[in-house]
Amino acid sequence: MESVQAIKQRFGIIGDDPKLNRSVEKAIQVAPTDISVLVTGESGVGKESIPKIIHALSHRKHGKYIAVNCGAIPEGTIDSELFGHEKGAFTGATQTRNGYFEVADGGTIFLDEVGELPLTTQVRLLRVLENGEFIKVGSSKVQKTNVRIVAATNINMFESIKKEKFREDLYYRLSTVEIHLPPLRERKEDIHLLFRKFASDFGLKYKMPTIKLEDEAVDLLLKYRWGGNIRQLRNIAEQISVLEQSRSISAAGLRHYLPDVGSNLPAVIADKKQEGDFSNEREILYKVLFDMKGDLNDLKKLTLKLMQEGDSKQVQDDNEGLIQKIYGNSGDDIDEADIDDDDELNVLQIPQDNNSSSARQQEEKDKYYFAEEIEEEETLSLQDKELELIKKSLERHSGKRKAAAEELGISERTLYRKIKQYNL
Ligand SMILES: Nc1ncnc2c1ncn2[C@@H]1O[C@H](COP(=O)(O)OP(=O)(O)OP(=O)(O)O)[C@@H](O)[C@H]1O
Ligand SMILES: [Mg+2]
Repeated sequence: MESVQAIKQRFGIIGDDPKLNRSVEKAIQVAPTDISVLVTGESGVGKESIPKIIHALSHRKHGKYIAVNCGAIPEGTIDSELFGHEKGAFTGATQTRNGYFEVADGGTIFLDEVGELPLTTQVRLLRVLENGEFIKVGSSKVQKTNVRIVAATNINMFESIKKEKFREDLYYRLSTVEIHLPPLRERKEDIHLLFRKFASDFGLKYKMPTIKLEDEAVDLLLKYRWGGNIRQLRNIAEQISVLEQSRSISAAGLRHYLPDVGSNLPAVIADKKQEGDFSNEREILYKVLFDMKGDLNDLKKLTLKLMQEGDSKQVQDDNEGLIQKIYGNSGDDIDEADIDDDDELNVLQIPQDNNSSSARQQEEKDKYYFAEEIEEEETLSLQDKELELIKKSLERHSGKRKAAAEELGISERTLYRKIKQYNL
């Protein structure tokens, strides 16, 4: 049997926390069996690698592995997606379609966000789990399949059962073995390790020297609550890698990226469990992103204008305010030399400050910012608007999806999908 360390390496799982190791070990142990496994843990803890390990170490490894995000499929089509449908089963069903349970025969299905399955689908799933039987939508023919099911959820399933949103019998069927992944704040030893790994990855990705935390910044990193767990840590490592000029990050510098840790607040907020915490974090993150997006759009417009009008001095005079806003005082430095002869759009160079040994990094950074095509702008701004509307509505209704969906005139399921899509 492969060791826990070897498996972690193979699946890119960083960390050596005993609870994490135990979970990986459990996955290795159950893999050769056909036992159903439920992976639990907060959002962003790394649940998605567990079913992959289980499949890869099972006798099904040459069979199909299908991951289904149950929360993202509209209620009206989920039965058909999972179990298939007959031709003519409903309007638009012009062909017979095989569902995932048929396609994955002999393989593994990962049902992510299983708590979001509609009750009617739960009944069908229970049947598959009990005797491998299912029926296509619109058919009366019972079919057989041999599929291993691994499910995951980040919600409290007992609450869902209590609210009659999830069947108790199905829950017990799914969770013959439960593999729980601990939140990051309970894996203190791994936090800095993970940060260093991500910092190094992003350094390579954006072709910049790797950022490094000063000692006090490391302290702050360890004391932070990490409501979004490893996903949040990774995002923050990426933001800092891209946005910070200096590669040595002080506690004050890091603080800037950690929502809820204002300059006057004590740094210790670990274990403060509040529903609203993470939404505040998101708010600030979005603000940073919106600001960046705004600047980016302004820059694009300016670039386009420079390219179209050729007379850069005139454009510069006309846009003094905008240039000031984006570049601060160094905006005066823009001259024709800053405009590349390339006919590509990613040509405007941000003026370098003279002491900058990081001219090359800055150039790479610019490429990263300007790589997008201008045509995308409209779609993007539409998406921004949609995102903003959804966010506002959710805020107004204190995160209640039902009320927000009503206000927005969309179904709760569509709203859920959008929330996932925008990672709200
Ligand atoms: N131990 C780890 N080492 C390296 N990267 C990790 C680790 N755990 C998680 N990640 C990364 O963190 C991100 C979030 O992980 P994942 O998508 O598995 O979260 P999740 O538990 O499924 O969350 P959700 O419930 O929100 O879907 C991914 O980019 C994943 O690669
Ligand atoms: Mg997930």
